[in-house]
Amino acid sequence: MSARVRVLVTGGNGQLGQDLGDVLSGRPADGGREAAPGAGSGIELHSTDIDTLDIVDRTAVAGVFEAFGPQVVIHGGAFTAVDACESDVDTAFAVNALGTRHLAEASARIGAHLLYVSTDYVFDGTLDRPYAEWDEPNPRSVYGRSKLAGEREVAATAPGSTVVRTAWVSGAHGANMVKTVLRLAAAGTGPLRFVDDQRGTPTFTADLAPTIVRLALDRRPGTFHVTNHGETTWFGFARAVLAAAGLDPERVEPIGTDDLDPPRPAPRPANSRLDNAALRLSGLPALPEWTDALDRLVGVLTDVAATA
Ligand SMILES: NC(=O)c1ccc[n+]([C@@H]2O[C@H](COP(=O)([O-])OP(=O)(O)OC[C@H]3O[C@@H](n4cnc5c(N)ncnc54)[C@H](OP(=O)(O)O)[C@@H]3O)[C@@H](O)[C@H]2O)c1
Repeated sequence: MSARVRVLVTGGNGQLGQDLGDVLSGRPADGGREAAPGAGSGIELHSTDIDTLDIVDRTAVAGVFEAFGPQVVIHGGAFTAVDACESDVDTAFAVNALGTRHLAEASARIGAHLLYVSTDYVFDGTLDRPYAEWDEPNPRSVYGRSKLAGEREVAATAPGSTVVRTAWVSGAHGANMVKTVLRLAAAGTGPLRFVDDQRGTPTFTADLAPTIVRLALDRRPGTFHVTNHGETTWFGFARAVLAAAGLDPERVEPIGTDDLDPPRPAPRPANSRLDNAALRLSGLPALPEWTDALDRLVGVLTDVAATA
């Protein structure tokens, strides 16, 4: 029998991290269709989060690598509070840039393959088409700058690593837009207002996690944009969430980003669409339509609410 592949996950308690844990353990995530080829009994998983491995602590990172000896590292841990990053610049860079440096350094030292999860926020959103992997980043927020700094740490210290940029992420675990819309809808009968001038592709961890695991286990070098298929605005997304839950989508009203009161501290790209060009040109499977993934997630959340 062949030896199991040792996989270290950071951010394992996050919304993506929990689904990575499922998929690596050989079962589809909640609302997912597949685990990942080679996952399950072929994997020895060590899932960590800030309570068990604070990636800002270089010595702690080195210690976990020495004890566990990962062959593959999936790095999803991050300071993801986009607005808080604007006022807590040091934490943003300590976690997203320096923490990533520590993982790159430790991975390179033992020849582990590193996969770093990055974001659409590395782009300024001014392009009139979806961003491909080879378009020039130009982040406008502290969060985006710190995540791009993480990409550069990976490239400098662990060349041959994988970078997966994704966007507008929702899943069964943790806080996200789907849960926010359902909560607001349940809390009152008034209109719900969402911006109609930011476009992107809602992406679901149940579909994202298997692709990330596949790229990591295959040790694919380079940058991949990985999102579900299709596009909408936050207004369109909120309407679709209500429709998927059997609620009235007409309750959602469109507003512009300039109408947000108070304005949000971090600027968001008006165009967050990511062309999954590297996946497509490599002949790797595309993710399903976002509306299909949304239906599956709302089904899971509704089932959980019904049995609670
Ligand atoms: N959510 C999105 O829309 C989105 C879009 C594009 C890209 N991404 C990227 O996708 C990845 C996963 O995002 P997510 O939505 O799953 O985020 P999440 O739910 O916030 O998960 C991130 C995890 O990292 C942990 N963490 C924070 N500081 C850490 C530290 N110093 N050491 C170790 N772990 C630490 C967080 O713990 P605490 O909760 O205790 O802070 C959290 O459990 C991130 O790299 C993010 O940048 C997310």
